Amino acid sequence: MTVHEALLARRSMRAYKPEPVPRDILVKVLKDAAQTPSWANSQPWEIVVAEGETLKKIKDGYTDCYAKAVKGSPELASPHEWTAAAKRRQQGLFPDMMRDCGEAVNQFGPLNASMFNAPAVIYICMDKILSTWSVYDIGAYSQSLMLSAAENGLGTIPAITLCLYPEVLRRELSLPDNLQIIIGIAIGYVDETNSLNNLHTSRSPIEENVTFRM
Ligand SMILES: Cc1cc2nc3c(=O)[nH]c(=O)nc-3n(C[C@H](O)[C@H](O)[C@H](O)COP(=O)(O)O)c2cc1C
Repeated sequence: MTVHEALLARRSMRAYKPEPVPRDILVKVLKDAAQTPSWANSQPWEIVVAEGETLKKIKDGYTDCYAKAVKGSPELASPHEWTAAAKRRQQGLFPDMMRDCGEAVNQFGPLNASMFNAPAVIYICMDKILSTWSVYDIGAYSQSLMLSAAENGLGTIPAITLCLYPEVLRRELSLPDNLQIIIGIAIGYVDETNSLNNLHTSRSPIEENVTFRM
């Protein structure tokens, strides 16, 4: 698979088969991701992979929070504002889903709430003393990881819903106090029978975001 092919193959997948990802393949993907560049090679990512009984306990904790209507509070602060262009692009997501997924659109919320039924979630954390410079590195790390996963036949989705209840994650993952949870990436073998996975999101023409100056 070329990089170009991997970039096109990676899409956010929202329904997974229950079969676990073999440990050697997970390790391969994590080793690939570790090649990501970072500020002065600081490699700020601290990774905790939730699988098996641990992931089940997280899910149970989340189910409890949802049942009690606990307000989600991811540790990465949510943006106060979006630009008009960003809002317009976000508003294109639902029409894209209607076009590609039909009735399965109704599963968007429930699958988010059930952590996409993924067999593993990779939580990417960093030390609390670090800054947005390191969040930049973690964004790059995430993409490296997802491209390697694609090459290894795995689906992924980065999702803030995976990070809604930090107190549950801190308890079940035994996270040290110095770490901030940045993002969770669900990973696994894609459930091809679920039409929500048919979603191919649109992109703006690059002329909208790119300027050449000579
Ligand atoms: C930081 C981040 C958080 C995201 N959170 C969610 C989420 O909570 N739930 C979800 O269904 N998708 C989530 N997504 C997936 C985006 O909706 C998706 O990346 C975007 O629509 C583009 O589609 P694609 O990934 O299939 O190319 C998130 C993506 C990123 C990068």
